[in-house]
Amino acid sequence: MSQNHAGVVAIYPGSFDPITSGHLDVIERGSRFCDRLIVAILRNESKSPLFSVEERTEMLRDVTSHCPNVEIDNFGGLLADYAMRKQARVIVRGIRAISDYEKELQMALMNRRLQPELETIFLLAGEQYSFISSRLVKEVFRLGGDITGLVPPSVELRLRARLAQPVANETAKL
Ligand code: PNS
Repeated sequence: MSQNHAGVVAIYPGSFDPITSGHLDVIERGSRFCDRLIVAILRNESKSPLFSVEERTEMLRDVTSHCPNVEIDNFGGLLADYAMRKQARVIVRGIRAISDYEKELQMALMNRRLQPELETIFLLAGEQYSFISSRLVKEVFRLGGDITGLVPPSVELRLRARLAQPVANETAKL
């Protein structure tokens, strides 16, 4: 880590429902240029997530255990406010394709308006992950498709266990 990067705290926010191999790639790349990378799960029950915040936290902790400067947290409310509370000045987002750009630009500019000292840095996920999203992984898995390599192996096991559960409530549905 160069001197210029000393003390850099960055936040990688997202839903991570569940974490994909593309997310993990961004975490690994991002953790190399900051001192602390906080992976922050958005608490947003209105999205009817497949996995609870606690389950997503466990999965993220498990797959990032080899990254000593990565922490897992969760947040509600505005990302810009959360970043200030964490004394972070950098937000990391992954860009997969040009189609991500418009939404990401809007969010970055809004966050900068809310907190002018907050910089958003975009990382390109590995091209082998450029088509992966949590939503598509869940859909393909539910319909019996092969998701090997699209999510870390431990996440695939969690998906398998969740699919095997009788659907007791809405959130158990993929
Ligand atoms: O993985 P996602 O679902 O694309 O992540 C979106 C996320 C969590 C980064 C975004 O929805 C967010 O920051 N939500 C927090 C609420 C907020 O700050 N909204 C204004 C952002 S411009």
